[in-house]
Amino acid sequence: MGGLARLEYRGYDSAGIAAVTTDRERVSTSKKAGKLVNLAKQLADRPLPDATAAIGHTRWATHGAPTDANAHPHIAAGGRIAIIHNGIIENYSTLRKELLAQGVDFLSETDTEVAGHLLAAEVAKGLSLADGMRALVSRLEGAFTLLAVDAQDPGTVVGARRNSPLVVGIGEGENFLGSDVVAFIEHTRTALELGQDEVVELTADAVRVTSFDGTVVDREPYHVDWDSAAAEKGGFATFMDKEIHDQPAAVADTLRGRVDERGKLQLDAGIIDESVLNSVDKIVVVACGTAAYAGMVAKYAIEHWCRIPVEVELAHEFRYRDPVVNVKTLVVAISQSGETMDTIMAIRHAQQQGASVIGIVNTQGSTIAREADAVLYTRAGPEIAVASTKAFVAQITAAYLLGIYLAEIRGNKFPDEIASLMEQLSEIPAKIQRILDTSGPIREVARSMANHNTVLFLGRHVGYPIAMEGALKLKELAYIHAEGFAAGELKHGPIALIEEGVPVFIILPSAHGRESLHSKVVSNIQEVRARGAFTMVIAEEGDTEAADHAEHVFSIPVAPVLMTPLLSVIPLQIFALELATAKGLDVDQPRNLAKSVTVE
Ligand code: M6R
Repeated sequence: MGGLARLEYRGYDSAGIAAVTTDRERVSTSKKAGKLVNLAKQLADRPLPDATAAIGHTRWATHGAPTDANAHPHIAAGGRIAIIHNGIIENYSTLRKELLAQGVDFLSETDTEVAGHLLAAEVAKGLSLADGMRALVSRLEGAFTLLAVDAQDPGTVVGARRNSPLVVGIGEGENFLGSDVVAFIEHTRTALELGQDEVVELTADAVRVTSFDGTVVDREPYHVDWDSAAAEKGGFATFMDKEIHDQPAAVADTLRGRVDERGKLQLDAGIIDESVLNSVDKIVVVACGTAAYAGMVAKYAIEHWCRIPVEVELAHEFRYRDPVVNVKTLVVAISQSGETMDTIMAIRHAQQQGASVIGIVNTQGSTIAREADAVLYTRAGPEIAVASTKAFVAQITAAYLLGIYLAEIRGNKFPDEIASLMEQLSEIPAKIQRILDTSGPIREVARSMANHNTVLFLGRHVGYPIAMEGALKLKELAYIHAEGFAAGELKHGPIALIEEGVPVFIILPSAHGRESLHSKVVSNIQEVRARGAFTMVIAEEGDTEAADHAEHVFSIPVAPVLMTPLLSVIPLQIFALELATAKGLDVDQPRNLAKSVTVE
């Protein structure tokens, strides 16, 4: 149950366990709709017998509503076989019809159960569970990680992986499988990532990996460089609050050791030749959700520093519109999990067109980290709360490092300019800490706004993606209608949304510096205020004008404009967290969501 609890962030609409006991007829299962706590209660009333091997699952529904019957594991062959699954079996409908015609009774509406019956049929022919799994996967289309147990082969778990992650934890006299190392981190920090189209056969003291065709694969284990404490709440009430407070460390760790003794920036893994990077004439960032907003922030910086055009595209839109990508394109895939299927598919498409791909990824050994040509890891540590916070600031930091690296090797910046940018970044962790230490007022205001139905967010330049990120946080956590707009766009339509008392957050840029947008944004504030908006302004410390235009001003430390997104997002994260908490909502596991979206 501990492992399942740590994986619950990936899906939490139902959960279940199948245990293989010495009864060789059938596995014992327990499953329940709703959060894991429901399964825990059921198990407390009706415990499963002691087992030699077990599989467990927390679900994010694709096929079939979140009911007890649709919860995994699914059984086949009268309970001899149990199976769990992440992903979508795209040809399940054809396979289901075939099985129905053979007289198979289905107990659920899931695509997974189809796989269970097909596996049972292979095992009934006399194949071992592993051979049966290899036969099964040749019939499946789509994305799947499958784990299965057989009552007649106690002590063995067989897994298969296509497109969805599967990691082996190697212990002493015990071995583990999980979608993420957090599942077994309290038992072992030695992990082995299964590659695409591979099958693993696991017993307490052996791990055997083959490709789908049965060829033995030799995979090197790696050491996980964080421990179980990093995946705990650390005294905070929620993972999200803890992760918000992890942000100074997330930025500092992402910056750590990036410059070698010659003053050159270093990437983490894989090499893209400098000559390739020098010939790049376009950068395309592909990402989803919060990671895409990090990409939008990075666009401003990279174009400014490197004079290379940067496009930012939602990964799920990119692949299907026949994008213009070639050997002169550098694709930057940003992903916390490294397992977002839309982003994986986008990078595969880009690689097929000859583009080089750099992954900005938080999860070691994840699919994007392995498939990209080079990786720049964000060192945010495990992010458990569904709403992304520390990964976001780490993604901006890493993307900035990439921009500075490109500016360096392409000769766009002199060494002293590079050093100055690195210095500006190095000051960010302490500045974030200052915001966290003085977050009382924004928490109080957020709590007072729990009854509002709409909140708008406005920003210009780098404040624009931050406005959208602030709105996303509020939508996903507090279930409030929230929109982020480019402040200048307001008068072209969205201003019609403003009515008496509508709360509007505005990210006010610094009044200093060349081409400051301060006065333009002040005008935008006046426009909404004149129509009755309740304005909350995020302004630089010492901005004496901000208070004249706002019901509330929240200050952030002074920083160069391109560094400000790393600061202005913090009050917005806190606002969403606090408002959702005041509404009594579960901020770590908001409704309908899953942390890693491993289906297209
Ligand atoms: O793991 P990824 O960074 O690829 O995930 C991308 C999005 O699904 C993710 O950022 C999502 O938008 C967050 N829940 C937002 O808080």
